[in-house]
Amino acid sequence: MIGLGMMGSALAGAYLRADHRTTVWNRSAGKADALVAQGASRADTIADAVAASDVLVACVVDYRSLYEILDPVRESLAGKVIVNLTSGVPADARGAAQWARSVGAHYLDGYLMTVPPAVGLPQTLLFYGGAKEVFDAHESTLRVLGGNSVFLGEDPGTASLYDLALLGILWSSLAGALHGFALLASEGVPAAALTPFVESWITHVVLPSIRGAAQQVDAGGYATTVSTVGLNAAGLATMVEASRSQGIRPDVMVPIRDILRERAADGHGDEALASMIEVIRTP
Ligand SMILES: NC(=O)c1ccc[n+]([C@@H]2O[C@H](COP(=O)([O-])OP(=O)(O)OC[C@H]3O[C@@H](n4cnc5c(N)ncnc54)[C@H](OP(=O)(O)O)[C@@H]3O)[C@@H](O)[C@H]2O)c1
Repeated sequence: MIGLGMMGSALAGAYLRADHRTTVWNRSAGKADALVAQGASRADTIADAVAASDVLVACVVDYRSLYEILDPVRESLAGKVIVNLTSGVPADARGAAQWARSVGAHYLDGYLMTVPPAVGLPQTLLFYGGAKEVFDAHESTLRVLGGNSVFLGEDPGTASLYDLALLGILWSSLAGALHGFALLASEGVPAAALTPFVESWITHVVLPSIRGAAQQVDAGGYATTVSTVGLNAAGLATMVEASRSQGIRPDVMVPIRDILRERAADGHGDEALASMIEVIRTP
C-alpha cells in the first residue's frame, strides 16, 4: 500500500482485517506506525515497497505525487500490477496507464466512491477501468476494499468520469439540502425538522426525476406534460427572491435559475427540465 493518508490507511486496514499480507509505505513514515502495530510490514523505502509485492495499491493526494513516488523506481516496476486509487480527471488516468505501459507494468485505475470508514464494506462502491485481465486476475483482492467493485471497461479514464458524475450529484444535492436548512433556520426551524421528509422526497420525487431525465437525455427528446422549463424558471426566480427576503444567500440556486432562464429565452420553455443539459453541454 503506497500512501497512508486518511484513505490509504483505511485501505491498508481493510487488507489487514482480511488477513492479506500487507506492506505499507508513506512519505511521512510515522503514518505507518498504527498499521504496523496491526500487523503490516513497514517498507523503509519505496524501492522496498515495490520489491515486497506484485500488486501495488497507490492512493496519494494527486497524480503529480504519484509520479514523484514511482518515477525513481520505474526500473523495478516491470511485471507489477499498479492499482491507482488516486483521484484525478480522465486524462490523468489515461496518461498514467500509458506511463505504466512504458515501464512494463499492468495498470488499473480505480475510484473509491466512499469515505474512509466505509472502506471494506459489502455495499461499498468502487469503479475500475483499465486492463480487464488484471481486474479479473485480482478481483478477489480488489473486492476486499469494497464488495461493490465494478469494472467499467478497458478505457482507464472511464472510472474517473463516473466518479466525477456521481460526485456532482452528491455536491449539488448536499448544497441544495444546506440551502434548505438555511431557509428553515431563517425562521428558527432546526435542520433536523426536514430530515423525516427528505427520504420520501428523494425516493418518490428526486429519483424518478433523475431516472426520467437520463432516458430523455439519451433519447435527445424533452417532451413533457408534467413540469416545464418555463414553470421551473419562474419557480427558481421565486426561490432566489425568497432566499434574499429570508436573509440568506441564494448562490446555490442562482446558476440553476440562470440555466432555466437561458433555455426558456431560447424558445424551449415548454420542454422538460432535462433539456437544461443542452445549456450545460454547450462549450
Ligand atoms: N478521504 C476521502 O474521503 C476520500 C474519498 C475518496 C477518494 N479519496 C482520494 O484518495 C486520495 C488520498 O486522499 P486522502 O484522504 O488519503 O488524503 P490525505 O489524508 O491528505 O493523504 C494524502 C496522501 O498523499 C501523500 N502525498 C501528498 N503529497 C505527496 C508527495 N509530493 N509525495 C509523496 N506523497 C505525497 C501524503 O503523504 P504524507 O503523509 O507524507 O503527507 C498522504 O499519504 C485522494 O486522491 C483523494 O481524492 C479520498
